Amino acid sequence: MNRIREFDHLKAEVTEWRRHLHQNPELDFAVEETARFVTEKLASFGINNMEPGIAGTGIVALVNGEGGDGPVIGLRADMDALPIQEASGKPWASRVPGRMHACGHDGHTAMLLGAAKYLSGKRGFRGSVAFIFQPAEEVELPSGGLKMVEDGFLDRHSIKRVYGMHNWPGIPVGEFGTRAGALMASQDDFDIVVKGRGGHAAAPHHAVDPVVIAAHIITGLQSLVSRNADPTESLVVSVTKLKGSDAYNVIPDTVEIAGTVRTLEASLRDAAEQLIERVARGIAQAHGGDIEFLYRRSVPVTFNETEATEAALRAARLAGTAVNDKTKPVMGAEDFAYMLQERPGALVFLGNGDTAAVHNPAYDFNDDAIPYGIGFWVNLVKTELGKA
Ligand code: NI
Repeated sequence: MNRIREFDHLKAEVTEWRRHLHQNPELDFAVEETARFVTEKLASFGINNMEPGIAGTGIVALVNGEGGDGPVIGLRADMDALPIQEASGKPWASRVPGRMHACGHDGHTAMLLGAAKYLSGKRGFRGSVAFIFQPAEEVELPSGGLKMVEDGFLDRHSIKRVYGMHNWPGIPVGEFGTRAGALMASQDDFDIVVKGRGGHAAAPHHAVDPVVIAAHIITGLQSLVSRNADPTESLVVSVTKLKGSDAYNVIPDTVEIAGTVRTLEASLRDAAEQLIERVARGIAQAHGGDIEFLYRRSVPVTFNETEATEAALRAARLAGTAVNDKTKPVMGAEDFAYMLQERPGALVFLGNGDTAAVHNPAYDFNDDAIPYGIGFWVNLVKTELGKA
């Protein structure tokens, strides 16, 4: 009955890889040592059909099945860490001050390597598997997923579907969760420069005070979600930055406001952009000022295609102890969404147990999840490409 026994023999070795990566975290696109570790491991499994250096440090490695013709499916892991000082207290904690694998990408990379090792020895499937290792998932635009997509690797390797997996604290180890449709939110950012007319703080009647205008704008933006967005749809508008004068006695010429927009509906991004500008400009002009407005579209909605989600659910049921096929969407963003924008596919969550949340200094990837993660990848290949 123990479905993961088949992958238990890989657990000790993959745990060693994972802890090595954890001790040596790298950031952004500069994951050279991590990428070198990945290519060396792949080569040691006899996988030589590799394209390194995509978007700098991204890697695609192909394993051809021996079961005849079939499609190429892409399995993706991310490799980068975060600029956080680790406080996990684990013996394998980061050796680099101010940097840690606080999102478990060390675990994702190690598990995909484990699956590559397993599948390189059992090639009874049709078609091919493309193992995708990407840098810079955590960075602001342009992130690693976007840069790799723009580089054209999906076309070059004829990849038909793409799958991703992210560990999830709060879901028990051995369990999986996902859903068809929107699983994670889009992320857009905005900047508003409120333009008034500066002056002496003791003579406000000679000025157009952008601080007061900014206060009205921030309050006005709160009604976008409550009064303008469909209550059955998800929209978050958060103002996160505010910068005015540096002096106690100076009314500034301008005030800078910035914030972020998250949504699960692509159409709401357009609506949010228009509404934020309209509300902010209208309020500013009513007070005799004006605004400059900049809206930057960043990560799209992580959208799971229906058939691919069903394939992922079948694989998760074969690999896991329990599967939730109606996982509540989360408002965080994930740059695997760029690959999902180009190809049908799905992202699944893998239980990390009762650990600290991702991006928390006390977080650590749970090595007990390793056999389940490898099991998911192998069973997905079986589901999509026949017997492995
Ligand atoms: Ni992550």
